[in-house]
Formats: sequence, C-alpha cells, structure tokens
Amino acid sequence: TPSNVLDQLRMNGKVVIVTGAADGIGLAVAEAIAEAGGNVAFWYNSNDAAVQHSKDLAATHNVKTSAYKVDVSVSTQVQETIAKVVQDFGKVDVFIANAGMAISKPILEQTLDEYRKQMSVNVDGIVYCSKYIGEVFHRQGFGNLIITSSMSGHIVNVPTDQPVYNATKAYVTHFGKSLAREWREFARVNIVSPGFFDTKMGASPFAINEAYRMAAVGRQGHTKEIKGLYLYLASDASTYMTGSDVLIDGGYVL
Ligand code: NAI
Repeated sequence: TPSNVLDQLRMNGKVVIVTGAADGIGLAVAEAIAEAGGNVAFWYNSNDAAVQHSKDLAATHNVKTSAYKVDVSVSTQVQETIAKVVQDFGKVDVFIANAGMAISKPILEQTLDEYRKQMSVNVDGIVYCSKYIGEVFHRQGFGNLIITSSMSGHIVNVPTDQPVYNATKAYVTHFGKSLAREWREFARVNIVSPGFFDTKMGASPFAINEAYRMAAVGRQGHTKEIKGLYLYLASDASTYMTGSDVLIDGGYVL
C-alpha cells in the first residue's frame, strides 16, 4: 500500500461490481469508482438506463465497464452473473451489495407476499451475492465486500411504518459483521448505513420532512455526498478496516 493517501484512494486496475447501479446510491458509487480509475460491472434489474450509464462512464473516465441484467433475489442469476464478470474482467476486487427495496407499510396492512418480496431482495439477495462472491474471494485470496444497509438497521425512526424493511437491514448488518470474521484470512467486509438520501427510495414526503425535522444537518443527503465513503471503503485507504458499520445520516442517529 502506498503511503500517499491520494494514491491509496486510486482504483486503477481494480474491478468493482456494484448492484443496484442504475439508480440513486448505486449509480453515485459506480461514478465514484470510475472517477478514481476503477473498472465497473454495473448490475441492474429493471432500469435499462444502466447500459447507457455504463458506456458513458467508460468513455468519460477511460475505464472498462459492462452492464449485467440480474435479479439479485434469484440465486442462479447471481451465481451465473458473478461467473460472467470474472470471465469478462479476470477477477473481482470489490463487490458492493447495494440493491434493495422497501414496502413501507405497517405489518398489519402488509400481505405476506409484500413481506416475502422485501426478504427476498434485501436478505436473500445479500446472502446470495455474499456467498457466491465469497467463493471467488476465497479462490483469489483477496476481496472486499461492502453491504448497503441502513440506519433503520440500528433504530426504529419515528413514526415510520416499515418493520420488515428495518429488520432486513438489521439482518444484513449483523450478517456482514459475521462475514468479516469468517473471511478474515482473505477478504474485508464493511457495512454502510445511510440515513435519508434523495433517491427514488428516499423521495417520500415523509422522508424529506423527517430529515428536515430530525437530522442534525436539517436535510436529506445528496448521493454525491456518499461517494467518498464508498470509495474509501473500496480502496486501499481502508485496509485496516473490516467488520465496521458506518452510519452516514447527517446526524440523525445521535
Ligand atoms: P433506489 O430505489 O434509487 O435504488 C435501488 C436499486 O436497487 C434500483 O436500481 C433497483 O433496480 C435495484 N433493485 C431493486 N430490487 C432488485 C433486485 N431484485 N435485483 C437487482 N436489483 C434490484 O434506492 P437507493 O436509495 O439508491 O437504495 C440503494 C440502497 O440504499 C438500498 O439497499 C436501500 O435500502 C439503501 N438505503 C437507502 C436510503 C435512502 O434514504 N435512499 C436510506 C438507507 C438505506
């Protein structure tokens, strides 16, 4: 590892998979990696704009990118797509497990299908991605997994009605910490827990108002304000960091 911190942050030659890369936090993170010289495998599901974003980043930053359509809640698709990325790029240095969704309803109003949908994306999706990328990291002898959780995995923000979403995030936070220990000999694992960010998911009047009322900075975060944290965790600037769960919430959870 170089001693100059700006050199540590450079991603030249690194291969990074970002899930949920078509929108919001995932897109900002994919940009951050490319801006730092890293190659990016864009994983997207429903939003085909990812294909164009991927091409634009490659052209602007002179890096290699590719877009892959994959539903992270289907284990076979996750396994096959990881194999494709390894074939296309030769290795994977960092996997950013960011795709997620919320159905914000009280449990008394939620159908079991709505419950299962959230579990399948936010929990099964993270477990499938982690298991199959873990096999690659183990084989390579190196790797770095970053999981996007949420401050909702720490606290129940008032008066939100999303018990299932909150619990899925508590699950993946603890799962990620456990992997940091299990994989200590070959890979790092860290968790990012965002507060209210101005994405599609964060677009509800409730979230905007709640950030205004409760975050110390008095507003939602812009996705450009989360890029540096992911770059830090993805890069060699954070080689002593594993098993950490980093809140980035404008001072909401205090
Ligand atoms: P977003 O809705 O803009 O992006 C979510 C992305 O995940 C989309 O690209 C979507 O296509 C993808 N996705 C959903 N289901 C998928 C599936 N089955 N397979 C593959 N991809 C799938 O939302 P945002 O805010 O960018 O969310 C990113 C992560 O950040 C999520 O895990 C979310 O829970 C988390 N988060 C967001 C917060 C916010 O205030 N925006 C707060 C705390 C956490």
